[in-house]
Amino acid sequence: MRTPLIAGNWKMNASLAANATLLAGLLGDEAGVSAELAVCVPAPYLAQVQSVLGGSAVRWGAQDASAHERGAFTGEVSAEMLLDFGCTYVIVGHSERRSYHAESDELVAQKAQRALASGMTPIVCVGETLEERERGATDVVVARQLAPVLDAMGTQLASMVIAYEPVWAIGTGKTATPEMAQQVHARLRAMLAERNTESAQQVRILYGGSMKPDNAKDLLAMPDIDGGLIGGASLNVSDFLSIAHAA
Ligand code: PGA
Repeated sequence: MRTPLIAGNWKMNASLAANATLLAGLLGDEAGVSAELAVCVPAPYLAQVQSVLGGSAVRWGAQDASAHERGAFTGEVSAEMLLDFGCTYVIVGHSERRSYHAESDELVAQKAQRALASGMTPIVCVGETLEERERGATDVVVARQLAPVLDAMGTQLASMVIAYEPVWAIGTGKTATPEMAQQVHARLRAMLAERNTESAQQVRILYGGSMKPDNAKDLLAMPDIDGGLIGGASLNVSDFLSIAHAA
């Protein structure tokens, strides 16, 4: 039985004051939520988030981590630094990083491996563009993105989370139908099962891309959708919690 995970991805939206309000709102209502809750925040706010959420059931994480362990990599943040601030999760391979920062499938796999080696759970994002979907390449694209990650995870496959995020659905208000999403999730789980059938049943596969209170329930009812990676709606505490209650 997989415990659903509802993870917020704040992206580059935060301030000390706004975070304080949002986190207080989350703590006010998280007791009624049976899903696991997490927020992935910009790195400068990790200390704040750790001090507010520490001791609660809400976990936190970051949105990226370096593939390198330490050293002369100006501007980068290592997985061990994130762990120092109590991060449980780190998102790797978000489509915004793949496209704006030219992150390759191999780099994403290295980042996932480094996160895991440091004791965190990588949330590995995969997903096709609209053009790729329209030419029927969705399965090929997500398989290509996931394969090097599965190689990198080796026997620790069960220690990862996958997020299927169709690029055309991110921040656009367009959502994959529950059936469309389920089809890809099932394909991803089948890929996991080719490596290890037991781990495949344990790995949570989240859906991301304009998940909102009004579509969350139907998406989360699908057998292979084990939660959500929530962008825009995670900045509104009542929307985020209402998605969490749907899980
Ligand atoms: P969205 O973003 O919910 O705003 O579409 C999801 C994501 O990019 O993780």
